[in-house]
Amino acid sequence: MVREYQVLGPEYASLDAVSEDLFQTMYTCPGVADSLNHVPVSALSKAVVWSRNRTSGKNSTYFQELVKEQEFGMIAELNIPPGVWCDFDCLPVALALMLRMIGRVLVGHPLCRDPDAISLFMRYGSAVPVSGNQISWLPRILRPLLGPHFAASRMQAELSGLIVEDMKHGADAKEDQMTLAQWVWEWTKRETPGEYTPFDVAGLLVSSIFGAVHTAGSVLTKCFYELTQRPELIEDLRNEVEQAIRDHEGVCRESIEAMTKLDSFIKETMRLQPVGPATVHRIIKKDFTFTNGLKLPKGTLVFAPNTQLHMDERYYDNPEEFDAFRFHKLGKQSDKPSNYKIAGSTPRTRQFGDGKHACPGKQLAADLLRLILAHFLLKFDIRKCDEDSSYPSLEQRRMSIKQRTPSPSVVV
Ligand code: HEM
Repeated sequence: MVREYQVLGPEYASLDAVSEDLFQTMYTCPGVADSLNHVPVSALSKAVVWSRNRTSGKNSTYFQELVKEQEFGMIAELNIPPGVWCDFDCLPVALALMLRMIGRVLVGHPLCRDPDAISLFMRYGSAVPVSGNQISWLPRILRPLLGPHFAASRMQAELSGLIVEDMKHGADAKEDQMTLAQWVWEWTKRETPGEYTPFDVAGLLVSSIFGAVHTAGSVLTKCFYELTQRPELIEDLRNEVEQAIRDHEGVCRESIEAMTKLDSFIKETMRLQPVGPATVHRIIKKDFTFTNGLKLPKGTLVFAPNTQLHMDERYYDNPEEFDAFRFHKLGKQSDKPSNYKIAGSTPRTRQFGDGKHACPGKQLAADLLRLILAHFLLKFDIRKCDEDSSYPSLEQRRMSIKQRTPSPSVVV
C-alpha cells in the first residue's frame, strides 16, 4: 500500500502539508511551505548531484572541500589538549559538526564558517518546533499578522538575508566555482524565468539545512554513543578506514565507498534507532482509493512504519541483535551490494522516505556521516563517560574522547 501512495504527486498526497501542520512552515520555513509557491525541491536534488559529480577520483573538488572543512570543523568543535580524556555531550557536538559540513555543501564559504551564522542556524533548529507549536495555537485569522514575528520566523528571515547577500558576491562565478545556492539560482532563472527571487532560493536552502542537520546530526549522535558502548568495534573500523585511505591514496569517493564496515555500522545504528518511528508521511489532498478498496478521504494523514519493518524477522535475522557488520555481510553476498549501503533503498528500509519525495540528500548524508566518523576514528580515542550502560535520551548521551596520532602512512 505504501508503494501505491508514495508515487502520488503533491496535488494528491503532500509531504509539505505534513510539515506545514507540524511546524507552521508558512511562517517558520517558507521554502517548503505547502501553501506557498516555492522553488521546487527537484532543483535542490539536481544541485546536490551536480555538486557531488563535479569531478571524481583523487582530484574530486567535492571531497577535497569536504575533507578541508572536516579538519577545520573538528579543530573548532573538539579542540582538546593532547593526552587528556575530555567529556562531551554527543548531541551538540554532532549537530555542530554536521551543520558545518552541510553548510559547506549548501551555502559554501565564508558563511559556513561564520560563527554568528552557525549559532543562528543552531538556534533556528531548536526554535522551529517551538514557534511552530506556538503559532498553531493562534486563531487562524491572526496567524498572518503574528506568525512572522515569532522567533523562528525572524531567524528564518535573517538567515535568508545572509544567504542572499552571500549569493551576490559570487554572482559571476564560473560553474565549477559556484556554491550550490548559486547553482540553484542559475537553474531557476533558466528553467522558471521570473518566477522566483534569490530569497525564494535562500528559503529552500534554509529549510533544507534545518531538516538535514537534525536528521543527520541525530544519526551521528547515536553512532558516537554506540562507539562508547561497543569498544570492541573500534579497532576493526579504524583498520578499515586506514586501509581504504592507503589503497586510494587519500580521502576520495573511492576510499569512502570502500569503508563498507563503517557504512554497515552506521546503517545498523539507524536500523535499531531510526530517525523517527515512521516515514513517508503524506496528507491526502484528494479522496483516494487503494487497489484493495480502502478509501482515504481528503485530509487523512498516512505514513509507513520504520520500527516494525526493521524488527521483522522476515527481513532481518535476529533483528533484536546489534550486528555492526550485518549490512557489510549482506552486501558481500549480494550482486547489488549498493542496496545494502546507507543510501541504498530497498523495501526493507525507508529511512530516507520513498517515491516522489524520497530524500534528495541521502547520498550527501551518507558521505558526511562516513567522512566525519572516519576522520574521528583516526584522530580520537573514544570511551564511555561512566559505568551507566543504559541508553538515555539523545540530549543526555555523553562520550569521553582523547586525541590520538594517526598512523603516518595515512594521509588525511
Ligand atoms: C540521515 C540523514 C537524513 C535522513 C534520515 C533523512 C530523511 C528524510 C525523509 C524520511 C524525508 C521524507 C521522504 C518521504 O517522505 O518520502 C526527507 C526529505 C527531504 N530531505 Fe532528507 N534526510 C536526511 C538528510 C538530508 C540531507 C543531508 C539533506 C540535504 C540536502 C536532506 C534534504 C531533504 C529534503 C529537501 C527533503 C524534502 C524532499 C521533498 O519534499 O521532495 N535530507 N529526508
